[in-house]
Amino acid sequence: MFKKFALLKNSHCLKISLMKRSVWYILAVVSILFGCGRRSSSPREVQKFTSDWRFWLGDSAVFSSAAFDDGDWRTLTLPHDWSIEGSFSPDHPAGVGGGALPGGIGWYRKTFKVLPADSGKCFFIDFDGVYMNSEVWINDHYLGKRPNGYIGFRYDLTPYLHFDDRENVIAVRVDNSAQPNSRWYSGSGIYRNVWLTKVDPLHVDHWGTFVTCEVGDDRAKVTIENTIRNSSETDVDFHIEVELLDRHDKKVGNIGSDEVTVKAGKSKTVTLRTEVGHPDRWSTQDPALYKAVTKVFEGKELKDRHETVFGIRSFHFSSDKGFFLNGQPLKINGVCLHHDLGALGAAVNYRAIERQVEIMKGMGVNAIRTSHNPPAPELLQICDRMGLIVMDEAFDMWAKRKTTYDYSLYWDEWHRRDLQDLILRDRNHPSVMIWSIGNEIPEQHDTTGVAIARELVSIVHELDTTRPITTGNDHPYPHNYIIQSGALDLIGFNYHHHNWANFPETFPGENFIATETVSALATRGHYDMPSDSVRVWPKRWDIPFHEGNPDNTCSAYDNCRTPWGSTHAESWKLIKKYDFLSGMFIWTGFDYLGEPTPYRWPSRSSYFGIVDLAGFPKDIYYMYKSEWTGDTVLHIFPHWNWKEGDTVDVWAYYNRADEVELFLNGQSLGSKSKQGDELHVMWRVSFEPGTLRAESRKNGTLVAVKEIKTAGEPAKLNAYADRQTIHAGGEDLSFITVDVTDKDGNVVPYADNSIKITIEGDASIAGVDNGCQTSHHSFQADEIDAFNGKCLVIVRSGKTKGKARVVLESDRLLESTVELKID
Ligand code: GAL
Repeated sequence: MFKKFALLKNSHCLKISLMKRSVWYILAVVSILFGCGRRSSSPREVQKFTSDWRFWLGDSAVFSSAAFDDGDWRTLTLPHDWSIEGSFSPDHPAGVGGGALPGGIGWYRKTFKVLPADSGKCFFIDFDGVYMNSEVWINDHYLGKRPNGYIGFRYDLTPYLHFDDRENVIAVRVDNSAQPNSRWYSGSGIYRNVWLTKVDPLHVDHWGTFVTCEVGDDRAKVTIENTIRNSSETDVDFHIEVELLDRHDKKVGNIGSDEVTVKAGKSKTVTLRTEVGHPDRWSTQDPALYKAVTKVFEGKELKDRHETVFGIRSFHFSSDKGFFLNGQPLKINGVCLHHDLGALGAAVNYRAIERQVEIMKGMGVNAIRTSHNPPAPELLQICDRMGLIVMDEAFDMWAKRKTTYDYSLYWDEWHRRDLQDLILRDRNHPSVMIWSIGNEIPEQHDTTGVAIARELVSIVHELDTTRPITTGNDHPYPHNYIIQSGALDLIGFNYHHHNWANFPETFPGENFIATETVSALATRGHYDMPSDSVRVWPKRWDIPFHEGNPDNTCSAYDNCRTPWGSTHAESWKLIKKYDFLSGMFIWTGFDYLGEPTPYRWPSRSSYFGIVDLAGFPKDIYYMYKSEWTGDTVLHIFPHWNWKEGDTVDVWAYYNRADEVELFLNGQSLGSKSKQGDELHVMWRVSFEPGTLRAESRKNGTLVAVKEIKTAGEPAKLNAYADRQTIHAGGEDLSFITVDVTDKDGNVVPYADNSIKITIEGDASIAGVDNGCQTSHHSFQADEIDAFNGKCLVIVRSGKTKGKARVVLESDRLLESTVELKID
């Protein structure tokens, strides 16, 4: 064993001095003799590298120096977004479009030690995403720069590490100072996870596996490509074995390679093929996952073990019948999502992403478009596991800019590398079924669009030919140069719903996807009447606009939209009607930070969401739920607190019933049924306080009942958690909704009481929000005002197990508490 390592004087991975070798030898002998070595079943160790980083908001060249004393810098755990910690102001250079939050330059540093025993190993640091323009140093050595803020990247630390008692120092400079560089809130900093990977010099390369499947009736042919890297200075003979495990970890396939030679400092790709009988197919209903476990051997010695999660599924688009998954037609009922997590900003948190996906799935969403950039890896893991189709998007612009300092500045140098890395990183995910190489790319309008589109498609095809490629076109006509390139597999329409029905004539034989639809606007709990008159804001969309309600609210009756968009109902009715319309991605599932409409202060976040920034559904959520799920839905709105004599439009979204009867204080206001393609029913009611009751019936039998009461004055708080048991460790979150209610428990629809939060136990406030697009309240405070009766407190577990008690208090209101178990 020692002999082997002694021979492994690799070029960029190992620099073993004689002294280090003897130290290693002694340790190795001791560990073999006494069995106390750090033996694990896998020689690969991947560690989350997120704790104990030092952070400084500011800039100096000395910060990269290993000798620099960062003792007075703040200590924090990554992922971290410094913008979300700032105060809202229209004067920040990002403007309201960027969320009215600050950018700037920040530095992160971390010190760590590596054991002498590991001096034969390779060490890599993986950043899942740093916004933006990151530069990294290790022990005074400059590792490189990465302008793109959404792409994952790796550096090899090995040649520069101290494998002795000395500290190793990583320094990262993050430059998000040139603004605006984004049309939405980006966040700033090391806002995604960081990993430290330790492997033998002979290992599966970074993103080095690729699993593809050809699915037949009762079996799937599985092809597993493994790229094995030899980072040593001698040629190595190796063989690999790949085990396929099903979702119960039962072995369903096993295949090995012959002995292969890989030259020193080079890599070798080994392709193996096997079959799986009667596979469990990955679907949106039953997302079965498999694992390919690659083992790399040199002789009999296991050198690496690497797992790749994949799925067995088939899908295709057809020009006349739309999308098919595993041979069955399936409408793509998708939403576009930006990457921010509301009050948490851009800082990635697994549970926060999972909650967003759960909320979307709850209304029947089966697909997500990662607009307009590579997503966090966690989102794809969650979509794999929960059965959502993903349209994975690379760029919001190519060589022509959209904002002054955006990615177009780096296009020439970086687009090939960034696109390749996206495909390599994401191509094993069964959820990913569409690659998008761009959104509303200005090159649609000039001839350069042809060449660039072809180039990008060829980059994707070098790495993956199993998925169709599209672009989101706001100019979806045959003379669009990107479409003219002929390189796309799917014609992506952003908006232009009036032209969808003509698609087969406009684009004969082509496949359709509505990459972006709707762009309707709503403030949760705000209603402008009459509900059947649609406000179109702004009237001119090519100039900054000032229309809209003076308080920047937008009506939640699905009667407020942008001129380029449609109401929710309009777009869905069309998608539903035509089979050849494979589906759509609604703009957007959640409100997001930045890009408000009205595009003016005091607004600082968008109004497009079906769900508000805090995660509270707006009424339109229930229209989709009634159409897209099998759950029984009866949702009536608005609230029932109006002025005596006001004329109020009462809407109901319902399903599984043929009529709904509405009662006001016991008096029937009549039964209504949806006519034709209608998606709701409505009563125009003269307001009187009391109880509004709806009953839905099928063939005369009661299906569901819903009541709304006129709420009295705010009297108490009612707090409830999405999860009362969360995991210790400092990452898990409990999302606590706080309703302001009257003495009888009715939510007070106008309540804006200020609520104070205290936590007893090892847990802390991760964020607070109320979903109001004009609020300038800090997301990181220990108090929050309710907005239209509700607010949200996000609690983060501490390191220790135990209990935590979250106490919510407000002047003159009865307090509410939530007990959390932290296990
Ligand atoms: C689209 C664009 C989106 C968003 C949306 C707002 O044109 O692709 O990123 O800006 O408009 O309606």
